[in-house]
Amino acid sequence: MGQELWNAVDAYVDGLLVAPDPALEDAARANVGFELPDIAVSPAQGKFLHLLARARGARTILEIGTFGGYSAIWLARALPEGGELVTVEYEESFARAAGEHLARAGVADRVRQLTGRALDVLPGLVGDPAAPFDLVFVDANKPDIPEYFDWALELTRPGSLIVVDNVVQGGAVADPDHPDRGVRGVRRFLERLADEPRVEATTLQTVGAKGHDGFTLALVTG
Ligand SMILES: C[S@@+](CC[C@H](N)C(=O)[O-])C[C@H]1O[C@@H](n2cnc3c(N)ncnc32)[C@H](O)[C@@H]1O
Repeated sequence: MGQELWNAVDAYVDGLLVAPDPALEDAARANVGFELPDIAVSPAQGKFLHLLARARGARTILEIGTFGGYSAIWLARALPEGGELVTVEYEESFARAAGEHLARAGVADRVRQLTGRALDVLPGLVGDPAAPFDLVFVDANKPDIPEYFDWALELTRPGSLIVVDNVVQGGAVADPDHPDRGVRGVRRFLERLADEPRVEATTLQTVGAKGHDGFTLALVTG
């Protein structure tokens, strides 16, 4: 009953609170063209990120992991006039698809797409006019999350938010002996976070159309 019930609740809530939007719906289907599972955030999660960015008054946002541009559209739409989203993607074909979706959504003018391996691209953002970023959304490969968090800290300032997706991994994160590299990456990140005096953080489990997973939210304090 779990997944069926979670889908029903997401469908009910999305029907009330997330307005239909053909450009977003196109981006959400990017996985179909690439014969991949549905790896974008859900509509409710996309709107949650959008509201976080607006509540923070974010003028510049960094996203690690663009895929088809679904979360990028939500984040870009939270920006004020003159704001910028910088989004990093490793796969050129995904970046191209995202570019089309961002254009269709009417936000291409405020999004800078960087293509390459994030750990190669991120050092180039030190001193970039968009840095320090007001919000960083980490949603790429899981084994490297601890290093992405270190870069997020480097590229933000006190008051910035860092959001990391998929930190519960269907509950596997609670298993200290889990063999999966992604799960181990998440555990390494959470343990690193516990010792990091420059942030206040929490992790929320979520259920919904994307199964059982969760977000970490960290506020940069120092
Ligand atoms: C979960 S998807 C991103 C979904 C997107 N944020 C959304 O919600 O619409 C993760 C993306 O990270 C990309 N990725 C994986 N490893 C990467 C790396 N080392 N550097 C940059 N991007 C990477 C993948 O190609 C994939 O497109």
